[in-house]
Amino acid sequence: MIRKNARTHIYRVETENTLYALRAVRGERVEHIYYGRKVRNALISPYPHNYGFSPNDKDKTASLSHDIIPAELPGYGAGDYRAEAIRIIDKNGAAATDFRFVKARIYQGKPLSAAMPHARADEAVETLELTLKDRFSGIFAFVSYSAYPEADTIVRSVRYENRTRKSVRLTNTASLCVDFPAGKEFELINLPGTYYFERHIERAPLRQGNYVMTSHRGATGHQMNPYFALVSPDADEKAGECYAFNLIYSGAYTNTVELTPYRALRVLSGLGDHHFSWLLEKGESFETPEATMCYSAKGIGDMRRKTHRFVKNYILKPRKSTRAPIVLNTWEGTWFDVNEKLILDYARAASQNGIEMLVMDDGWFGARVSDKAGLGDWFVNPARFPEGLASTVKKVKDMGLAFGIWIEPEMVNPDSELYRNHPEYALAVPTADPSLSRDQLVLDMGNPEVVAYLKETLGKTLGGVGIDYFKWDFNRHLSDVYSSILPPERQAEAAHRFMLGTYELLAWLRETFPDAMLETCSGGGGRYDLGMMYYGEQIWTSDNTDPAWRVDIQCASLMGYPAPTMSCHVANRENICEGKPRTLRFRYAVAAAGPLGYEFNLSECSEELCASVRAQIEEYKSYAHLPESGNYYELASPYEGRTYAYYYASPNGDELLLTALQAKGDAIPLTFSIEAACEDLTYTDLLSGKEYDGKTLKKGICVCPDGMDEWSLMIHLRAKK
Ligand code: DGJ
Repeated sequence: MIRKNARTHIYRVETENTLYALRAVRGERVEHIYYGRKVRNALISPYPHNYGFSPNDKDKTASLSHDIIPAELPGYGAGDYRAEAIRIIDKNGAAATDFRFVKARIYQGKPLSAAMPHARADEAVETLELTLKDRFSGIFAFVSYSAYPEADTIVRSVRYENRTRKSVRLTNTASLCVDFPAGKEFELINLPGTYYFERHIERAPLRQGNYVMTSHRGATGHQMNPYFALVSPDADEKAGECYAFNLIYSGAYTNTVELTPYRALRVLSGLGDHHFSWLLEKGESFETPEATMCYSAKGIGDMRRKTHRFVKNYILKPRKSTRAPIVLNTWEGTWFDVNEKLILDYARAASQNGIEMLVMDDGWFGARVSDKAGLGDWFVNPARFPEGLASTVKKVKDMGLAFGIWIEPEMVNPDSELYRNHPEYALAVPTADPSLSRDQLVLDMGNPEVVAYLKETLGKTLGGVGIDYFKWDFNRHLSDVYSSILPPERQAEAAHRFMLGTYELLAWLRETFPDAMLETCSGGGGRYDLGMMYYGEQIWTSDNTDPAWRVDIQCASLMGYPAPTMSCHVANRENICEGKPRTLRFRYAVAAAGPLGYEFNLSECSEELCASVRAQIEEYKSYAHLPESGNYYELASPYEGRTYAYYYASPNGDELLLTALQAKGDAIPLTFSIEAACEDLTYTDLLSGKEYDGKTLKKGICVCPDGMDEWSLMIHLRAKK
C-alpha cells in the first residue's frame, strides 16, 4: 500500500512487513525519511545540527545542509559531497545537478520497460512516481518505487526526460539510492569471485569512505555479482536486520556503499560512470535499469527466502513444466567434437537411462572445430551433419528425447565468414587492433544491422527444426568498446547500447521459439544476474563442476537467487579442477541442488554406472519439486565449517528435503533443527524408510558424517496421512 499524509508531506511505501518513507515538498529536495520494519510513525528529524563545511539553501536553516540530509535523488556539485545518484553535464559544460520536487502520483501497476528486463507486476503491485526537476539544466526525472507486498521488496528506477531545447549529457545514473541515518551499524555481505570460482560469500564491517562494487566489463561478470546485502552485526540465519539489494541488468554497473564522516550510510546501485554517459537530445528520454531492495527484521534466512520468492514470482521466466528437464550435455565429455554419429550415440544412451533432453553444446556450426574459428557463422557444419540439423534432431526425438542446442550470438571469431564480410560489426577502436579473448571479438550489439543479421541467420538455421532448449553462452567480456555506427559524442553509450541490443535479441528468441526454454551462460556464471533471469528459466552456474568447489559456489548463489536458476550437472569424472576423481554419489548429491544434468558420454559407460545414473534420476524426480518451489533453509555454511547443510520445505511444511555435504572427511556429529517441520505431524523418509516425528525434527536431529571424504546425506521426508 502507498499513502500520502497531506499534512506532513510524507509518502509511505508499504509492503507486508516493511516501510519506506520519504518527504516531498514542492520546490525542495526530496528527503528520505525511513526504510525498515513497518512502524506507524516514521517521522524523524535526524540532523538538526549545523555541520561545518556543509552548504545549504540560502533561505533555509542549517538543518537542511545538503551534505547531511538523507536524499532520494542526490545530484552532483551543489553541496552534497557524497556519491551522487545522477550527474548532468549541461550544454554549457556545468556539472551541477540538483533535483527538486514537482509532484507525485500513486497508481496500481508499475512501469514495464519495453527495452529492458524488469520485475513483472500483478494486481498487488502499486507504484509511487515522483516528478522532479533539475534546477540547473531543467531536465525532468521520474522516480518510481513499486511495492511487492508479499516479497517485502521495492523496485526502483528513474526515467529522465529532456523537455528543454538543448541537449545534455547524463552520467552516473543510479537506479537506487538509500540513505541510512547514523546510528545503525552494518556489515556488508557480497559475492565476489573469479572465473571458475564465481560468487563466494564475503562479510565485513564498513569503514568510513566509499566501497565500490563494480564491473566495467560490459557484463556483470564472475568477479563481482551485483547482489549485496547490509546486515546488522549480530545478524545470523534466524535473527537480525537485513537489507538486500540487486540490479535488474546484465552489463557494466556500479554499486557503492558510502559510510560518511557522521556515520550515515548511502547506498547506490546503477549504471555508474565507467565510460558511460548518455546524450539526451531535446524531446528524448532515458530509462535506468530497475534496482531492487528487500528488508527483513528476521535474519539472513528470512531475507533469502523473500529474495527467492521475489525472483521466482516476478523476475524468472516462468517454466512451462513443474521442473526443468534432466539433460545430458555433450560439453565435458566431447568438447568441440560433435557430429551426427556421436549425437545419436549420446541420444541412444540418454534415452535408455532416463535422461529427458539431449543438449548439443559447442561445435555444430560454421568452421567451429575448436575455439579458433566459426563464431558468427550460424549455419550447420555439413561435414558433421551431412543430412542437416533437422534430420539429426528428428532422430533424437524419435528416441523420445527433447533436443537442446548451444549458441553464442554476441560473438565473432576473426576467422569466420561474418568477420571477413563485416569487420565493422565487431567492437574495435579504429586506430589499433582489438584484444582477443578466447580467440574471439565481441559484436556491436548496439548496431541494428548486427541484431538483424543474427535474427535472420539464427531464425533460418534453427527455425522449424524442433529446438526445445537453447543454451546461450557469452565467453568473453567487452574491451575496445567503440561502435562503428556511433558519432564521437555517443561512443560512451556503446556498452549500454550493446546490452539493449542483446536484450532485443533475447526477446526475439523467446518470441520466435515460444516452446523452447532458455538457459543462459557466460563461461558458467559470468552473467548470473536478474537481467538474464528475466529472459531465461535458468543459468549455467559455473564451468567449475567439481562438487567440492561447487558447494561454495552454489551456497553463495543461493544468497541472492533461488535454486531453479541454478543449472547443476553431474561432472565428467575427469573434469575436476583438483584432478581428483569424485564419487558419482557425491557429484550427484551436489548437483541435485538445482536443475539436473549429466556431462559425460553415457554411451561409453559401464552398465553398473548407467544403472546408478538411472537410480539417481528416479530419486531426483521424486523430490525435484522441492528445490524448484519449496522454501530454502540453511543449516550449516561451508564458509564457516566443513559441512554444507540445508533443506527445502513445502509451503505448509508437510514435505522436506534435507541435504548435507562434506567434501573432506570429518566425523563431528551435527545437530540440525528443522524449524519448518510441523510439530503434530509424523514424517517418513522416503529414501530410507525411517520415521521422524515433527517435534523431534524441530528440536533437532543428530547426524554423524562417516569421517570419509565426500560424505553426503539426503533425507526426503513426507508427512504421513
Ligand atoms: C563455456 C560454457 O560455460 C561451457 O559449458 C561450454 O558451453 C563452453 N563454453 C562451450 O564453448
